[in-house]
Amino acid sequence: MTLLLYGAYGYTGELIAREAVDRDMDVIVAGRNGTKTRGVGIQLGTESRVFPAEDAADNLDGVDAALNCAGPFVETYEPFVEACLESGTHYLDITGEFPVFDALAERDREAEKAGVCLLPGAGFDVVPTDCLAGHLHDRLQGATHLRLGFEAPTSVSGGTVASAIEHASAGGKVRRDGVIEEVPLGGKSRTIDFGNGPKNAVRIPWGDVSTAYYTTGIENVEVYTAMPELAARAVELSGPVSTLLSVEPAKRGLQALGRQLATGPSEEERERGRTYVWGEATDGERTVTSRLVTPETYALTVDTATTAAGRLESDDANLTGYHTPATAFDPEFVLELDDVEGFFDDVEEG
Ligand SMILES: NC(=O)c1ccc[n+]([C@@H]2O[C@H](COP(=O)([O-])OP(=O)(O)OC[C@H]3O[C@@H](n4cnc5c(N)ncnc54)[C@H](OP(=O)(O)O)[C@@H]3O)[C@@H](O)[C@H]2O)c1
Repeated sequence: MTLLLYGAYGYTGELIAREAVDRDMDVIVAGRNGTKTRGVGIQLGTESRVFPAEDAADNLDGVDAALNCAGPFVETYEPFVEACLESGTHYLDITGEFPVFDALAERDREAEKAGVCLLPGAGFDVVPTDCLAGHLHDRLQGATHLRLGFEAPTSVSGGTVASAIEHASAGGKVRRDGVIEEVPLGGKSRTIDFGNGPKNAVRIPWGDVSTAYYTTGIENVEVYTAMPELAARAVELSGPVSTLLSVEPAKRGLQALGRQLATGPSEEERERGRTYVWGEATDGERTVTSRLVTPETYALTVDTATTAAGRLESDDANLTGYHTPATAFDPEFVLELDDVEGFFDDVEEG
């Protein structure tokens, strides 16, 4: 079974490619830059394929699953998904971008017909929160409201900054009565104990606002992250500035700067960092809370994406259609990953 990994010389893509080779998976590394792609292929001893994302259809020969690590994904997912549906190849990515989740959910029937699985969000965004959502739903089947969140170390890669800037002008997002709504960025502070003591937290437009609905059917979803009060206020005040990012040259300039400044966590940060993941579901009478403790977010992404790709490739997976990580496997999937602790469960009455 062969996995093609696109974006293989990016910060995260290269880490995943190394891990997949370490796990003896049959990997083809791919990307748009010939020198960099072939460099990774030579280092890892794999085949390499050089092509722009738009030419995916001509480059999936002999591939069973394509794992797209080239973000911002709004710029790369479409030709890959078309090519995968056409050639009967499973598609996975590590996106956290709403337009990608929503677009893939709409192609569920086509993917079923083509006999392929579409699995976006196979990274930190959204594997642990999605599995927690599934677990909370199993605990309280009649839940009407779901809140998820995390406290994570702060180093990020250039690609993550570029992707965040790509969508910054779209503001915050929540799901209300089944529909995704725009809300002010950084609004609605509250105190949450993610598992590492109570912290100020703000609402963020995280992928679960899209995916948790497909995992649980719960129609009201919000996602929070820990943020000191001063920083949260600054994000709130940045609302008018973020609309400037809908102006293409301003967005591109800031993305280029972000790519230069953000180099991603060091190996030591990836090895030592811990991330606290929290969720609560309520039906208005009972509230159930569960938590997970996981490795640092990029270290976890390497494990989630590689494990998910391995599972999809395996002969007995037989998955077709659009899936979230928890529907593709099950909520316990996250507990199979290295160094993940949980689920830690509480119940509150009334
Ligand atoms: N789900 C998660 O939790 C999670 C975790 C980590 C990363 N991510 C996401 O994954 C993406 C990559 O992150 P990263 O840390 O690896 O960033 P990175 O170091 O900037 O790497 C991005 C890679 O994608 C390629 N790429 C970007 N746009 C492309 C396009 N239009 N066509 C072809 N290739 C393109 C880049 O090639 P060039 O250098 O040639 O542009 C590079 O190989 C980001 O969107 C990030 O937000 C998600």
